[in-house]
Amino acid sequence: MKTKLLLLLTIGALTTGCKYDNEEELYNCAVDAASTRYSITLTAIFSSYGCVGCHSGGVPSGGVTLENYAGVKAAITSGRLFGAVNHDPGFAPMPQGGSKMSSCDIKKVKAWIDAGAPNN
Ligand code: HEC
Repeated sequence: MKTKLLLLLTIGALTTGCKYDNEEELYNCAVDAASTRYSITLTAIFSSYGCVGCHSGGVPSGGVTLENYAGVKAAITSGRLFGAVNHDPGFAPMPQGGSKMSSCDIKKVKAWIDAGAPNN
């Protein structure tokens, strides 16, 4: 009985924690296509999560190149990039070995993709 109560309290604390994080991000995360540019926002995101480190050079991880626009665009077109960063089922979750990107950064990636993933 005691164990059950403890479990319930732990689950309660965890879910409350998540809710708070999401609310905080909603307020601090201003995202639209105009403010989400490849040359500024997206390249910064891909280098800050170490994506470029693994996905560059002659033999990029998973055959995915993220060090230039052509490579990123190819990963967008194939649908692999968003599935990977959003941890959708059927995709290798990225960044590999690291924690998931912040939901704000995922929203920025999504806004840029929804705008047609322009080289801007
Ligand atoms: C530590 C190295 C490493 C880091 C950091 C990393 N990746 Fe990967 N990535 C890999 C490897 C290895 C694979 C191949 C995994 C597999 O096929 O199981 C891969 C696969 C992928 C794929 C193909 C996924 C699929 O299911 O087809 C995409 C897209 C991708 N990575 C994007 C990213 C992005 C975006 C980031 C940064 C948020 C990132 N990666 C960070 C090593 C890494």
